[in-house]
Amino acid sequence: MGKLIEFQNVKKDYQNQTVINDLNLTVDEGELFVLVGASGSGKTTTLKMINRLEELTSGKIFIKDVDISNVSKRELRQNIGYVLQQIALFPTMTVAENIAVIPEMKGMAKKQIDEITDELLNEAGLEPTDYRDRFPQELSGGEQQRVGILRAMAAQPQMILMDEPFSALDPLSRQQLQKLVLKIHAKYHNTIVFVTHDMNEAIKLGDRIGVMKKGELLQVDTPLEIAQNPKDKFVRDFFNASLAKDIYDVYISRVGLIQGYLKDRPNVTEDMIKQLDSQLTLRDVFAVLKDFEYISVVEDTKVLGYLNRQQIISYLSQHEKD
Ligand SMILES: Nc1ncnc2c1ncn2[C@@H]1O[C@H](COP(=O)(O)OP(=O)(O)OP(=O)(O)O)[C@@H](O)[C@H]1O
Ligand SMILES: [Mg+2]
Repeated sequence: MGKLIEFQNVKKDYQNQTVINDLNLTVDEGELFVLVGASGSGKTTTLKMINRLEELTSGKIFIKDVDISNVSKRELRQNIGYVLQQIALFPTMTVAENIAVIPEMKGMAKKQIDEITDELLNEAGLEPTDYRDRFPQELSGGEQQRVGILRAMAAQPQMILMDEPFSALDPLSRQQLQKLVLKIHAKYHNTIVFVTHDMNEAIKLGDRIGVMKKGELLQVDTPLEIAQNPKDKFVRDFFNASLAKDIYDVYISRVGLIQGYLKDRPNVTEDMIKQLDSQLTLRDVFAVLKDFEYISVVEDTKVLGYLNRQQIISYLSQHEKD
C-alpha cells in the first residue's frame, strides 16, 4: 500500500498564534490512523487542513502526490467523508435518503445506492426493513451516529476523517461504534484518520497512532511501539494515564491473544505476560508458554480473561476454527 496523505512541513497560525508547527506525517492507503492528544493540541486543525476547511499557513499537503491546494475544494471533499462529534443528519430525510445524499451527488445508480444502503445498515446492526424509512428524530443518539458514519462511507470515499465521533456517547454505544468502525475498516479497507483525546480509544482502533502535543507530533508508531517504547515522558504519562482501568490491554490485533496488564495482581508481573499476534500458529503459542506464565485473551474490546498454560489449550481448541 502506498502513501495516501502526506504533510510536508505544515504550519498553521491563527492570528499570531502558531497552533501547528512543522508537521510532517504520512498516512498510508488503507490505514486506520489515529491522532491523539489533549484538548487544544491541534488535532481538529490538522484534520480540517486535509479537506481544506482550514488553509495552511505554510508547507504542503499531498493526497496521492497531488498538492491539495491545486484541487478545488468541491472536488477534494467529494472524495473525503467527514464525521463529527455531533452528526447532523438531515431532519426531513429518512435514514436511507440521508445515506444516499453523497452517492446521488456523485451520480451513482439508484439500484446500486439501495444495495449499498442495505448492506451498510446490516453491517451496522440496523435492520434495513426496520430502519431504512425512519427519520432521524426516531433514532437514538447512538443510532444517529451510526447512520452518520454510514453516510460518510456510502460513496466509498478515498478517505474518511472522523473527529471525536463517539465522545458524546455512553460507554456502551461507544464500544459498539468502535467495533463498527473496525468492522467496516476490515471489510472495505478505507483510509481513516480518526481523532480522539482518549488513548484507550486510540489503542483499540489505530493501526498507527500519532501523539500530539501543542501543535507537534511527538511520536508516530503502532500502539505496541508506543506502549513499549514511548519516546518521552509526555507520551509515557499520557499512555499510562489511560491505564485507569484495573485491567488494561494493548491491542495488537483485533481478535486474538494479546498482552495484558494486571494492576491489582502483584503476583503477576509484566515479564510473565506475553503479547501474541493472532496470526501465530499453535506451535508459536506453545513456544511462548515455555517462558511466560500468562496470556491475556481479548476478543473485540472485551477481555475474556487471563489464561495459564493449561487453560490456553482449551481456549485455543474453542477459538481455532474462527
Ligand atoms: N478559528 C480559530 N481561531 C483562532 N484559534 C483557533 C481557531 N481554531 C482553533 N484555534 C486554536 O488552535 C488550537 C488547536 O485547536 P484544535 O481545535 O485543533 O485542537 P484539538 O486538539 O482539536 O482540541 P479538542 O480536543 O479540544 O477538540 C487551540 O489553541 C485553539 O484555541
Ligand atoms: Mg478538536
